[in-house]
Amino acid sequence: MARFRVCAAAAGCFLPLLVLHAWFCGSRILRNFGLQISWTTKNTLYRLDVSWPKYSEYFTGTTFCVAVDSFNGLVYVAQRGDNIPKVLVFTEDGYFLRAWNYTVDTPHGMFAASTPHEQSVWITDVGSGSYGHTVKKYNSFGDLVQILGTPGKRGSDLNPLQFDNPAELYVENTGDIYIVDGDGGLNNRLFKLSQDFMMLWLHGENGTGPTQFNIPHSVTVDSAGRVWVADRGNKRIQVLDKDTGEWLGAWDNCFTEEGPSSVRFTPDGKFLIVAQLNLSRLSVIAAPPIGSIGNCSVVSTIQLADQVLPHLLDVDGKTGAIYVAEIGAKQVQKYVPWNSYFPSLLS
Ligand SMILES: *[C@@H]1O[C@H](CO)[C@@H](O)[C@H](O)[C@H]1NC(C)=O
Ligand SMILES: *[C@@H]1O[C@H](CO)[C@@H](O)[C@H](O)[C@H]1NC(C)=O
Ligand SMILES: *[C@@H]1O[C@H](CO)[C@@H](O)[C@H](O)[C@H]1NC(C)=O
Ligand SMILES: *[C@@H]1O[C@H](CO)[C@@H](O)[C@H](O)[C@H]1NC(C)=O
Repeated sequence: MARFRVCAAAAGCFLPLLVLHAWFCGSRILRNFGLQISWTTKNTLYRLDVSWPKYSEYFTGTTFCVAVDSFNGLVYVAQRGDNIPKVLVFTEDGYFLRAWNYTVDTPHGMFAASTPHEQSVWITDVGSGSYGHTVKKYNSFGDLVQILGTPGKRGSDLNPLQFDNPAELYVENTGDIYIVDGDGGLNNRLFKLSQDFMMLWLHGENGTGPTQFNIPHSVTVDSAGRVWVADRGNKRIQVLDKDTGEWLGAWDNCFTEEGPSSVRFTPDGKFLIVAQLNLSRLSVIAAPPIGSIGNCSVVSTIQLADQVLPHLLDVDGKTGAIYVAEIGAKQVQKYVPWNSYFPSLLS
């Protein structure tokens, strides 16, 4: 009977999408959080993929971040907690591959910087232990291959480079690296490093003016050469030129309730997917064409259940699937574009 009611309720929420009914019933996620998910639909562009991961028992901590390596079909998840694996590696189909916990203290953000020839993942670490205050690169088996920053020592120096709470990073195909530092604490910096880790440009002022930041929490780069920063404490997204660091514009009209915590583009570059943590909301925002940044325009939102708390997300560069690290629900969920399964619906 209980099960029946669950199914009926789920079907009710998704009346136009009755087909979902079958997928939701019997899933563990549904029992925990799925029931309360409602989609405010101007356009329903994504659906929850309850078959990812196959077994959610691997989420034993607080899942802070996720990174997709679309070349190799891998999904990395980093979680916090005592005596647990810190990094989990799944296939994009949801099968668990392996985990590690050595040399990771307190993960915050991550980025899979892979090519067809190299599988690697970068992790920002805000811990106060001997591996904390760093940005580290691992191969896909957990071997540490690069450390940026001064392990175990928080600070703001550039030479030698120090971090306090590095929030996230984005790595271009050229190897250039953009780092936001950080997640509260000493620093409010965005900088770009070359592939051999030379500082190319830096904005490091705390404030509300152009190129100043207050908790720069997530960063991404588009194909038009623009850097997009979730300037969370200032409740805006700032946009800069990736070559010069010059300010190009800002969106502050979309985030009046709460600042953005995560930014990633869809593979076609047409939409920015933005998470708002305490609102438990994902927004699909139209990306402006080359040139003027203009005003922010939300195309669609995905309202998650209360206290799911989406922290950071990543988008699969091939399939467009969105993976969301939820620190409240303590899980990573996958949302897939409707049109990848039902081409006839949108065409
Ligand atoms: C590392 O992870 C293993 C399980 O994969 C666990 O048994 C061990 O206690 C963990 N160690 C630490 C220090 O977290
Ligand atoms: C940055 O400015 C904000 C607002 O004035 C303030 O609350 C915060 O403590 C400042 N951060 C630092 C690191 O100085
Ligand atoms: C979310 O809420 C918590 C608890 O009230 C608060 O500490 C935190 O600053 C909030 N985060 C954001 C991004 O507003
Ligand atoms: C953005 O919105 C403001 C206030 O509504 C308006 O004055 C301005 O013209 C808009 N800018 C663009 C580029 O649409």
